[in-house]
Amino acid sequence: MNYQLGLIGYPIKHSLSPWIHRNFLDQSRLKGTYELVEIHPNHSFPKRLNHLKEIGIDGFNVTIPYKEKIIDFLDKLDNNAKIMSAVNTVHNRNGEWIGYNTDGTGYVRSLINKFPHLETEKKKKRILLIGAGGAARGIYYSLMSFGFSSIDIANRTLQSAENIATLKLDHVETNVITLEKAETDINDYDIIIQTTSVGMKPNINQSIIDISTVKKDCIISDIVYQPIKTKFLTEAEKVGASIHFGHTMLLYQAQSAFEIWTTKKVKLNNLERKLERKLKGE
Ligand code: ATR
Repeated sequence: MNYQLGLIGYPIKHSLSPWIHRNFLDQSRLKGTYELVEIHPNHSFPKRLNHLKEIGIDGFNVTIPYKEKIIDFLDKLDNNAKIMSAVNTVHNRNGEWIGYNTDGTGYVRSLINKFPHLETEKKKKRILLIGAGGAARGIYYSLMSFGFSSIDIANRTLQSAENIATLKLDHVETNVITLEKAETDINDYDIIIQTTSVGMKPNINQSIIDISTVKKDCIISDIVYQPIKTKFLTEAEKVGASIHFGHTMLLYQAQSAFEIWTTKKVKLNNLERKLERKLKGE
């Protein structure tokens, strides 16, 4: 089998996905290609998708701005994608296009891989999720599905956080709070997850909130991966907290997508270091 894989979105010229999936194909000794299919917002979306159907593409990732728009063109959605109303992975199963969302599950996989003790301590940990965009939505739902039971959401616009909190499962307690309150009460949390774009290149001197008074054994996570070590993570390190890097989420969501397409679960430990060097420009 020669896998035809790819990514649709705009703009995607700088995407790391072709590099990641090339590594996955090589590691699994599978033949295949992973192409960038940039679809300009002025192009005909149905026409470009039709072309992918005609060539019999085996699977593709979907990124901004098409994660919601793609849904109308799919035959089925898995439960996660349905709840998210967003798809980042499409699999061609015998001519039917099935939509999945591996962003949130990928994030949780990456977190648990780095901090395996969380598996047994998940009911005791208090989580603060900062931000209320698409990424926060997927992460919130996946944290709950994994079994975490205390997750507060802080955001600049409270209404967006309230919207995410409507997904709350029965075993979970969630408070929607302002960024100011998050900062004041930061010492209450065991895991803090930063999902906004604040601190991303070129604004590398920005940090969403002050975390200088966090617990020493706190885990601080930032999904921004350019730069690899954001100001938020640098400050976390200064106070002795454990840190979790954003690029690992990228790898784990890709690992899940690749598994859906090929049934092969690739190993990530070497690739994590390779990607780190690549992002640092080494
Ligand atoms: P994504 O889908 O990648 O998560 P998004 O939907 O654009 O991205 O969400 C961006 C998040 O970053 C939101 O939580 C946004 O806050 P608002 O809901 O108030 O807009 C947050 N964000 C972006 N810039 C911010 C800033 N300068 N200060 C505070 N929050 C910011």
